[in-house]
Amino acid sequence: MKREALGGVPGVIQPAPESFLEPDLIRDISEKGVNASRRNLLRAALATATATVAGRAIATSDPDIVNIPEWSKMLGNAVATNPYGLPSRYESNVIRRQSPGLTQTDQASVAFTPLQHMFGMITPSGLHFERHHQGWVDVDPRRHRLMINGLVATPLVFTLDELMRMPSVSRMHFLECGANTALEWGNSAVPTVQYTHGMLSCSEFTGVPLSLLLERAGFDRSRATVILAEGADGSSMTRTINIENALDDVIVAYGMNGEMLRPENGYPLRLVVPGVQGVSWVKWLRRIEVGDMPYAAKDEASHYVDLMPDGMTRQYTSIQEAKSVITNPSGGQKLLTHGFYNITGLAWSGRGHVTQVEVSTDGGRNWRPARLEGPVLPKALTRFNYDWVWDGSEALLQSRVTDSTGYVQPSMPALREVRGSRSIYHNNAIQTWRVLASGEVHNVQLG
Ligand code: MTE
Repeated sequence: MKREALGGVPGVIQPAPESFLEPDLIRDISEKGVNASRRNLLRAALATATATVAGRAIATSDPDIVNIPEWSKMLGNAVATNPYGLPSRYESNVIRRQSPGLTQTDQASVAFTPLQHMFGMITPSGLHFERHHQGWVDVDPRRHRLMINGLVATPLVFTLDELMRMPSVSRMHFLECGANTALEWGNSAVPTVQYTHGMLSCSEFTGVPLSLLLERAGFDRSRATVILAEGADGSSMTRTINIENALDDVIVAYGMNGEMLRPENGYPLRLVVPGVQGVSWVKWLRRIEVGDMPYAAKDEASHYVDLMPDGMTRQYTSIQEAKSVITNPSGGQKLLTHGFYNITGLAWSGRGHVTQVEVSTDGGRNWRPARLEGPVLPKALTRFNYDWVWDGSEALLQSRVTDSTGYVQPSMPALREVRGSRSIYHNNAIQTWRVLASGEVHNVQLG
């Protein structure tokens, strides 16, 4: 693949392969403008800027201003035309997407969340990414059971109704696959943020604290060190989770964003393991076994391990370290005019909450703090915003998060120094988007 040096910036960049670019992702984001309440403030702040797009003078030649549209002159549609509400037909390009050629089958595959179209911190349920090892299953909730066995005084079985009668909690958490951003290890410059970072979503989950179920079954406190969670699909998905985690904030969830889980996301029951990589969030959850040693199941012995530079593999590296990414402007988009842009993105940490996000527009030479939009919650996505006036010259956009443990998101070279380049999982490096003078935005890596 072609490499070229970038004038004035140390290192190399690698352009995105054209075949990945999808025309509907190249959007005119310059037309987003800013809302009226902020307009005056911005006008003052940007008085010295060479060009701004904070609104336009009214043009009487604009037919969309002069003509009254048909929807202002007619009877609208009846209530409940869509008994379950749907997005506007004008938003039909905002969908989960499979990466071309990434997987050999559509069952053992992934469909990525369109992060470039998201606002705030919550992912709409219909856009929550999907990752299945053997396809999603359509479980009949009346026939579904959850068993608790192993090192317990009384093995128990629960129906869904029984679980839904128990005390419940609702918490907002991010879910990130350990393989998110995996292709960047190989410097393959995936073109859009949907494919680089879209195995990431954030929802409000509702369910029963796992600690309550373990206590009901009388788990053996002196011997229990782990639990094994098992799913009801054909993939034999089983994962070992430390007993400390299991007793802390793990939820046996049936609710997502105020309604029942969607089938693709584990209906009617899934494990929510805050801060831990997605594979441990076992879907279609049917069994929890309490044990006294790690189970070394197939998805923890040969998959979801990190190959280190010395040839050894790291197992059970489950926590998702602090990470952030700019979602707008991002790869595959094009800035059409110079002037003001709201740089926006997401930050998160599996170890706590986000304390700071900094943005650089010159490839990491200078950093300035971004605004964190509340609520800033532990182990949840945090939205950040940053005012930027694009003067039309090339720019290298980056974000860098610091979390509540003081950990700072590393650059790609710094991460490679410790981890080598043969890993698949747990890439939390700083992402760079290169804005060309033409306004096109590309995924690049700085050496
Ligand atoms: N649970 C079962 N039973 N089967 C699976 O294939 N995939 C895992 C996890 N839980 C999986 C599973 C993986 S690898 C991830 S990243 C998350 O579910 C993805 O959850 P989502 O599809 O709701 O986004």
